[in-house]
Amino acid sequence: MQKEIITIDAAQTKKLGVALAQEVIASGVVCLSGELGAGKTTFTQGLLEGLGLEGPFTSPTFLIMKEYKREISNDKLQLQNVYHIDAYRIEKNDILALGWEEMVANKNNIIIIEWAERVKEIIPKSALWIDFGWMGEEERRITLSN
Ligand SMILES: Nc1ncnc2c1ncn2[C@@H]1O[C@H](COP(=O)(O)OP(=O)(O)O)[C@@H](O)[C@H]1O
Ligand SMILES: [Mg+2]
Repeated sequence: MQKEIITIDAAQTKKLGVALAQEVIASGVVCLSGELGAGKTTFTQGLLEGLGLEGPFTSPTFLIMKEYKREISNDKLQLQNVYHIDAYRIEKNDILALGWEEMVANKNNIIIIEWAERVKEIIPKSALWIDFGWMGEEERRITLSN
């Protein structure tokens, strides 16, 4: 499946992130690709909000990874891990060293990874891919595929 959405400002991209939270929960791993400034982090801020997490959300660029706990609403109080990874300055092996295989194998985790195209080999087939294309100052083409 492929779906294309054009946004005309940052607020729209963030709103799209909020709206896609359920699809991301279903896929477990969401891969964000596209150049610097294309909108991956802006989208992620909306997504984290849509997942029910409390901001402000900062970019993990200098941290490699940020971890959040998400409350799942059912009978018991249950927590789910949400990981936000930025692969801009790191390599495949750095991500593997974070415990990637276990992280991905745990169906209860949600993993958001920026610059995922840099580490394609370690991404599971089931992942949802979202590409961000720069069209103009405030226009972005956002393509979903899985
Ligand atoms: N339609 C849009 N969608 C997302 N960001 C936009 C849009 N229009 C302008 N921007 C601006 O572009 C920049 C995107 O930055 P960011 O989300 O950090 O990108 P990335 O994480 O891909 O490097 C922000 O400054 C944002 O305000
Ligand atoms: Mg970013």
